[in-house]
Amino acid sequence: MTIKVADDAGIAAAADHLRSGHVVAFPTETVYGLGADATQHDAVSKVFSIKGRPAVNPLIVHVADPSWLEELAESDDRITALADTFWPGPLTLVLNRRSDCPISKQVSANLDTIAVRQPDHPIAAALLTAVDRPLAAPSANPSGHVSPTTAKHVETDLGDALDIILDGGPCRAGLESTVLDLTIETARILRPGVIDAVAITKVIGVIDEHESSIGPINSPGQLEKHYAPSLPLKLNADSAHEGEAYIAFGGAQNAAFDLSPSCDLAEAASNLFAALRELDDPTRFKGLAVAPIPAYGIGQAINDRLRRAAKGR
Ligand code: TXA
Ligand code: MG
Repeated sequence: MTIKVADDAGIAAAADHLRSGHVVAFPTETVYGLGADATQHDAVSKVFSIKGRPAVNPLIVHVADPSWLEELAESDDRITALADTFWPGPLTLVLNRRSDCPISKQVSANLDTIAVRQPDHPIAAALLTAVDRPLAAPSANPSGHVSPTTAKHVETDLGDALDIILDGGPCRAGLESTVLDLTIETARILRPGVIDAVAITKVIGVIDEHESSIGPINSPGQLEKHYAPSLPLKLNADSAHEGEAYIAFGGAQNAAFDLSPSCDLAEAASNLFAALRELDDPTRFKGLAVAPIPAYGIGQAINDRLRRAAKGR
């Protein structure tokens, strides 16, 4: 396994590898993705097997340009407006597949829908352009682990199974994209992320924010085994007990990690997964205690990931 420098030669090698039906890990602005040519059934199968991902959980298709959507999904005004506003960027749109959509049905877990986004990262963009085909890419972690935000995280988790990991340094956003279902009349957020409901509402009007209404049929992602730390995780903690690692927000005495000393939610989001990876270590701590994180903007997505992690245990 090699971590490749993502210069022109590295990107060209990765693109060749992908076109030959292999899997490559690459950086995006959210987290690292485990990419395969979305039009090749066997390549997509490798992604599912490397991740240990259940076949019922569909993958996101990454495109180099919004115009690539035309071949993949039925369009409407909301889709065009959202892509115009937020792409390239961390918003994934769940759409109705065109009947002649060239993407492997396995990517969609055999559903009639397809999730698409244009990543906002120069290496991801260069790779997509070089491959000249859409890439199916889930987060580059084994199913049930925390998403990787550095090439090193990917190497630790999946290095043995991969020939190429393109190193783009730490991911800027650090949390996975917002997933928005547009196959229903009132669009619904299936996974909160960097782009929040307020921003989406400004573009397409009212959306359904009722999280509990998400059922397994609409959101196969809910079937996914979510990341659960091996240590007990306490939320909204003002301090840590003896032996616990305290994850602070905005300063604290004896914090093991401060997500953002200046109370910047975007900074906290970009640090969250690295903090969990570093501190979820039973040889050093008995438990994890996380400070309250304000629940607005990207804070909603941070709280979503923390709640799932705490519940997953
Ligand atoms: O930021 C991201 O979205 C990263 C980067 C690599 O792009 N990718 C990512 O992929 O987080 P993954 O597979 O870890 O999460 C994709 C989520 C899953 O919850 C999946 O169920 C949902 O998107 N999803 C994909 N296709 C869907 C579909 N057709 N209908 C409903 N949900 C879908
Ligand atoms: Mg994932």
